[in-house]
Amino acid sequence: MRVDLADLAFERGGALLVKRALRAAPPAEGVTVFGRAPDLAVHLRAWCRAEGHEFRWVENNGTGHAWIMRGPAAGQRWSGAERAGQADPHVRDAVLEHPPQRWGLAGRGALVEAGSPEFRFQLDRKSEVWSADVARMYAQAAAAQWDPATAVPWDAEFDLPAEVEDAIVQVMTYLIENETAALVVPARFVAQLHPHFREVMQLLAIQAADEARHIEVFTRRALLKRKELGLSTAGGQASLQTLVDEPNFAIASFLLSVLGEGTFLNLLWFLERSAPDPVTSAVCRLAAQDEARHVAFGMAHLREHLQAQPWMRETLMNAVRRRHESLRHTAGLNAEVFDALVLLAAGSWDCADIGTGHDAVSTLVQEMHSGRKRRLLHLGFSDAGAEEMSALHTRNFM
Ligand SMILES: [Fe+2]
Ligand SMILES: [Fe+2]
Repeated sequence: MRVDLADLAFERGGALLVKRALRAAPPAEGVTVFGRAPDLAVHLRAWCRAEGHEFRWVENNGTGHAWIMRGPAAGQRWSGAERAGQADPHVRDAVLEHPPQRWGLAGRGALVEAGSPEFRFQLDRKSEVWSADVARMYAQAAAAQWDPATAVPWDAEFDLPAEVEDAIVQVMTYLIENETAALVVPARFVAQLHPHFREVMQLLAIQAADEARHIEVFTRRALLKRKELGLSTAGGQASLQTLVDEPNFAIASFLLSVLGEGTFLNLLWFLERSAPDPVTSAVCRLAAQDEARHVAFGMAHLREHLQAQPWMRETLMNAVRRRHESLRHTAGLNAEVFDALVLLAAGSWDCADIGTGHDAVSTLVQEMHSGRKRRLLHLGFSDAGAEEMSALHTRNFM
């Protein structure tokens, strides 16, 4: 085996050619290296010493060449390396139930050198985070991203009665803080998730990005005709704080995605239908489409989690009871938001219209309850259990 580096210096890429030749050389056979670069012998000798290769310099009629023999240590660096599962999640055993912390940030499927540092990713059990469908769900979410600048008809002309505009601003103010909770919760868990579960990590990240857009468009709608946002209540914040503070991933995603975002789906579609202007209608429709995916992932991974650990149902039920108890003395949905919803559904201050609007909001609350119950039944809760949990769900909706 012979390499000619010509004028190429060892430290300017010559090393690549020498390494390549050493890899290709049969075992116990040396590689001869020719070259005219100054100090080639010096560089080669130092490198061979560092890498554990045998080095000899052969002088011949005033010119010289090197002779290198691969040392026994070469290649040993990768001898203890491990393949970190398989990149393609559809390959059998590609995703491990309990990936080691030493695989750390390595891409799933990479060959990880022995001695890599131990990380401390708390969410490191496949049964607790994974869904068989997660890769498809992520692809769907990535394809469904929309641009707030162009997806909403911001320039549409409309002029609402002052009190109707106020009602919109109040509802938007309420939506923004709920969306903020929905951003903070997955963002916190994505940092605790073992990157071996790549598709779940990507899905949670894109979910947080969805919420960032929701916050943007709701803020922009609120400020379209006004200079300030509306009211934020202590009760609403207390309800959201229980989500932000929940340390357990299964409980948090159950309360947020299944119960909270599930309930918000009804609310957003209701707002889309009763919106008095095209901008409000568009922002609510776009957010609802994203929320449907958030609910779908929460349902999918919790269904699989509950199949593996049926006793978790009791834990989730107790979490709902505990949350209800801790919020018992708070006001629930703020009256301003409730009144705003009635007015939006009514469309005017006419007595008959207000009555119709009130009925519509009552129907909405009933639909929210049925939706929650349906999802709970789908997760395998009993009818009585689902009824109780849905009834105890926070009056703040999220
Ligand atoms: Fe959202
Ligand atoms: Fe969401």
